[in-house]
Amino acid sequence: MIGEPGQQEPGLTRREVLRLGGVGVLAAGAGAAGWWRFGPQSELDPRTGAALVEPAVLSSESGVLDVRLVASRGERPVAGRRANVLGYNDGLPGPTLRVRPGDTLRIELVNQLDQPTNLHVHGLHVSPEDNGDNVFLAVHPGESFQYEHRVPEDHPSGVFWYHPHHHGNVADQVFGGLYGAIVVEDPPDSAGGAGVEVTRERMLVVSDISFDESGSIRGASMQDRMMGREGELVLVNGQVRPVLEARPGERERWRVVNACASRYLAIDFGDQQVELVARDLGPLTASDEGDAVVLAPGNRADIVLTAVSGSTTVQLAPVDRGGSGMGGMMGGDDAPATDAVDLLTFEVAGTVVRSERLPNSVSAPYPVPAPDLRRQEPLRSRELVFETGMGMGGMSFTFGGREYDHDRIDQEVDLGTVEDWTIRNDSSMDHPFHLHVWPMQVLDAGNGPVEDPMWLDVVNVPARGAVTVRVAFDRPGRTVYHCHILDHEDAGMMGIVRVQ
Ligand code: C2O
Ligand code: CU
Ligand code: CU
Repeated sequence: MIGEPGQQEPGLTRREVLRLGGVGVLAAGAGAAGWWRFGPQSELDPRTGAALVEPAVLSSESGVLDVRLVASRGERPVAGRRANVLGYNDGLPGPTLRVRPGDTLRIELVNQLDQPTNLHVHGLHVSPEDNGDNVFLAVHPGESFQYEHRVPEDHPSGVFWYHPHHHGNVADQVFGGLYGAIVVEDPPDSAGGAGVEVTRERMLVVSDISFDESGSIRGASMQDRMMGREGELVLVNGQVRPVLEARPGERERWRVVNACASRYLAIDFGDQQVELVARDLGPLTASDEGDAVVLAPGNRADIVLTAVSGSTTVQLAPVDRGGSGMGGMMGGDDAPATDAVDLLTFEVAGTVVRSERLPNSVSAPYPVPAPDLRRQEPLRSRELVFETGMGMGGMSFTFGGREYDHDRIDQEVDLGTVEDWTIRNDSSMDHPFHLHVWPMQVLDAGNGPVEDPMWLDVVNVPARGAVTVRVAFDRPGRTVYHCHILDHEDAGMMGIVRVQ
């Protein structure tokens, strides 16, 4: 429920700090590092884009990756200035974790925040029990917790991510800067298969954030929490409009994570030649070249791009994800801003590289898919319904009218069975449906049967529409499904599934 009195923003303390100068600071460039007024992206100096910096990479060795992630608040560079944000290991985003199928991923989470948190590995097909991907745990301020994930040998390869999942704090903490990427490597022999040699690989973690005048994260209004907050600044690896450079003909693999709390990304690559190779959990056999790649919150894309000479501004096209339907009551149109946003600049210049002589090939994008379930017989079908409502206490966000209850099992599933889930949306805005642990194979994305196999862990359910997915519940445990507009999740648009 959103709108109850006294349900104020927890823990986002603001700091009184000196502002440097006045309006002139806006154009002063990185030299004037300090606090400044962070307005909307459209007010930033378009020339300030710096070269893209990628998050630190931590890779497994001999089958193990052992990392320590410290969640804290502090002054860190964001958009070329210093801001007071959250982050893992003093960074925004946190380090990229690279593992192989069969590896053990150990993460010690240290909570230096002033509120409880925990850590979810989004998209990984690992156990949700005990010290696995257990979102029911709370790691309190000053405490730490040791997670351990065993990545199965047959795990799909691709890009995944981690973020907090403590119910009630998720939107605040992700929006504040707590996220990072996980890569499950492709098998070593994929270069010789249908894979494509690429010159380089880039990690692009896209997020959004808003600041107040002192450079602290701005809290969410009631409106923000109903629609799902969208930040005024769109960041790529914590930078506004970074610059990426390449030579014509070079092929790059871009791994894109939508780590925004609520924003959908419709990425328009301009004149660049782009192929969408894989989505969340596996390759796509039919790629829709030319169109914008649309990522709901939580989705990832694996893209192969062949550099075309010139300077391209890669943009986010406006996305219509509906309104709360309460526009009149709330005193105006509550649909989120739909302006196009500049995401990054891709500068392609220099001598042409012929594709058969690519320097330093680093990777071959040939992701391993999740199992194809099209020929499996589902044991049963269920229907889950996204609902919004208006009541005395405010606006409610539920599945079938029931808000999330920590002590209630909403779906009991028999271990080892396959089920078809239809997710219906009875509301006037889109909701991205996310299921933990078990990959969803999309049978119907809302506009008829999906011919080629497509595996997602977040599937958008259009306003007044429905999607159908098939799921193999092949490992036991209790976990959640929810709307990945994180404000909706925090408001109760979440349920519990138990497989045993
Ligand atoms: Cu990306 Cu339940 O979360
Ligand atoms: Cu998840
Ligand atoms: Cu939602």
